[in-house]
Formats: sequence, structure tokens, C-alpha cells
Amino acid sequence: MTDTATLILGQTLDIHTNPFEVAPEDATVFRRQGAILVRDGRISGHGDAETLRNAHPEARIQDHGKCLILPGFVDAHAHYAQTAIIASWGKRLIDWLNDYTFPEEMRFGDPDYATAMAGRYLDLLIAHGTTSVASFCTIHPVSVDAIFAAAETRGMAIAAGKTCMDRNAPDGLRDDARSAYDQSKALLAHWHGRRRATYAITPRFSPTSSPEQLEALGALWAEHPDCLMQTHLSEQTEEIAWVRELFPGAHDYLDTYEAHGLLQPGALFGHAIWLTDNERARIRDRGAALIHCPTSNTFIGSGLFDTARAMGEGQIVGLATDTGGGSSFSMLRTMATAYEVGQLTGHALHPAQLLWLATAGSARAMRMEDRIGGLAPGSDADLVVLDLASTPAIAQRYARAESIWESVFPTIMMGDDRAIRSVYIAGRRFDPRCGEDEPGHSRPLNPLIAESLGL
Ligand code: GUN
Ligand code: ZN
Repeated sequence: MTDTATLILGQTLDIHTNPFEVAPEDATVFRRQGAILVRDGRISGHGDAETLRNAHPEARIQDHGKCLILPGFVDAHAHYAQTAIIASWGKRLIDWLNDYTFPEEMRFGDPDYATAMAGRYLDLLIAHGTTSVASFCTIHPVSVDAIFAAAETRGMAIAAGKTCMDRNAPDGLRDDARSAYDQSKALLAHWHGRRRATYAITPRFSPTSSPEQLEALGALWAEHPDCLMQTHLSEQTEEIAWVRELFPGAHDYLDTYEAHGLLQPGALFGHAIWLTDNERARIRDRGAALIHCPTSNTFIGSGLFDTARAMGEGQIVGLATDTGGGSSFSMLRTMATAYEVGQLTGHALHPAQLLWLATAGSARAMRMEDRIGGLAPGSDADLVVLDLASTPAIAQRYARAESIWESVFPTIMMGDDRAIRSVYIAGRRFDPRCGEDEPGHSRPLNPLIAESLGL
């Protein structure tokens, strides 16, 4: 059945080309009075509002005024099961895992708890303008079922997988090489390619997987190369020293994955801060992706990821919150920290580059760029509508703006969920903040997501 077309009106910004490769002005088209034509959950065109209105008089109109319409944000690395322990104080990685993360992840053997947290997490994502995520789950297959089921209910394109660990984790949070393979395979068979779901084979990181487990997961990926593979790599210096002890025969940290078939296109390496030149070259040559997790890297004290260097050497780079090691669910906040970390590494990232990383860049890392992260006709209609004057502080800076970049940068740097006016997921509209009357005057959130009236 064909839907009536919908014309979504507002300011539109199409970042159609990688702005690390061409100048932002040449990589983008900004329309002050733009429109996006949506049919059957997909973008069927975009352009000047008046032209599209005349061409499609039958279309339903949804007018967002001066708000800015962008592709929905794509978070390329997160842990939904850490939602309840976000902002836990005072530890570096290994102690943070043992003291905060593992006790919480233990709870996800209970399907009711997993279902409640999966729903809470995805509603938080939508409230923050994020329409897709690559999330780790826990060791428990029910934690995987919970997040995919919650995503299906909301119509979201997500990637997720069972986190595999067979050593250096507490009782109750370990599997073994065989059960990791069998359970991952069964989950993959059930979920991968169902509606908008993508399975990600998920060894947590080399310290918690034996070589046998990494080998088994490499074999599974070889059987299903269209799946993703997500893990962590070279996040903290103590972690790298530990990997050296655990894998005395490996050339380096990357080799612990590479030797087991886990360095291929579709591999998502979270953090990847402390890489050697040789590791960097192998990752690039094999077409794997580096996932920049800036709020996590500053929060847990991991180090500074050099985005400009990575992009300059031709890496595939995605941007991510890494909640709950990351300190925010917001990709706006994540872009702000990426900007600050960029300054500390000697490069001021342009707003177009930040927005591209948070949309098309992450989508490309997840091998979903033909479906999400952009406004090209044929893409799924996953959109975020930003209020560029969502707080008094932002509004007064926005009032002085003389270009689209000056208009959007204050929201990137100072914005949060109050800037999210609407979200579209496969064309279905969610208004996280409906009930507010005026931009810049926030009231408490309504029940997290209220499906819009009038649909
Ligand atoms: N390394 C292994 N597991 C984790 C995790 O859950 N979060 C972060 N930030 N790093 C990890
Ligand atoms: Zn992580």
C-alpha cells in the first residue's frame, strides 16, 4: 500500500559529500526554506519548499518553521546495558568495569529488567535525536532479544550483539568459546536482516576473550561476512600492557583480533586511541572503522583521539557516545567534545565535519550509508529537527549568526535534548518535547516520547 506523501518543511542542511575531502561549502546544500518529501517511510526527494509544494499539492504538510532538519544522529558505539550506571565517579577503565559495569550487566539475565532498560534506553536516544545505534548488549541472549525487540517496536535501524567474555570477568558473566559461538549464531539467525536489524558479532575486548573464543567468533563472522563486528581497541595504556601479558605471542593489540579473522570491512573498533603507525595502516588497508568516543575518552581519562589525522590518512571514522563510559546520550554533546578534543590535538573541526561524523560518518562505519545518515532520495526517512534557539543562552548567540555554520555551532556546543523538536523514524514522527509552547522555554519532558498528534 502506498502512503500519502508528506512534505516536511523547515531549514534543511544536506551534507552530501565528505567535508573532510572537499570544502564545507562544496560538500553541503543549505536551504532556508527547504522541504523533504517522504513517501512510504523513505525520502523521495528534497529541495526548495515552494517548488516541492507546487509539484506535490496532495502531500500532507508538516511545517517546522525555522527549525533545522538533518538526518537523524547515528551513534556508532554504545552499551545500552550501562544506561543506569552512566556518570559513575572516579575510576579508570579496568576498575570502572569491575566496580560499576559488571555488577550492572549481571542484572540483564532477567528478561523483564532487560526489556525495561532497552525501552528506556531507546526512548532516551530518540529524545536526544539519535535514530540509529550500534550497541553492545550483555552476555545474556535475552539482553539481545530485548534491544532488538524494542528497536523493532520503534521502527529503528540498529546494530547489536551478545557481548562475549570467557575470562577476566566475574562468575555469571562468562560464557565459553563454544557457547559464545552457538548463542551468537542463533541470535544472528533470528535477528540479522529482520526489518531494520543488523547483527554485530561482539567480543567485548581481547582481555576478556581467550584466543579460542576470538577464533570461534572469527569463524562465525567468516560464515556471515555481511554482519558487523564490534569490539574495543587500545583505549587505555594499562589495557594495552595487559593485552601484551595475556597474548605474549601477538605482535600488537590489533594482532589479537587480526590473527583470528576479526580485522575485515565491517569491524568497528571503539576508541582506538593509542595505535601504532603499523596498526593504523593495517586498519585502513583492511577497511575497518575507528570509532571516536570523545565524552568517554575524557570521562574515563583514556586520551585524545586525533580525528583530523585519522581522516587525513583515509580511515573510516564513526562518532559515538559509548554510554555509560561516555557521559551523555546526546550526539550534540558528543560533537562538542569531539570539537574540544580536536582543539587539543591542533585541529578545529568545522561544524559540517562534526555533523557529518555524527550522521553519514557513523552510518558509513556501520556500512549503512545507503540507508541512513543522509538525505539522498531512497534513504530511510530518519530525521532530526533541531531548534537552533533552544535555551536563552543559545538563542542570544543564534540571534547574531550570519551564516548557517554560525547558526548551528552554538547548538552543537551548548545544545542538549532541549534542542530536539521532532524526530522521524522511517517517516514516523516522534515529538519528544511536545507540550512546550515556545522554543527557548523548556518545560519538563512529557512522558518520554509522545507520538505526534495528527498522524
Ligand atoms: N572496554 C571493554 N569494555 C568496555 C566498556 O564497557 N566500556 C568502555 N569504555 N571500554 C571497554
Ligand atoms: Zn564501549
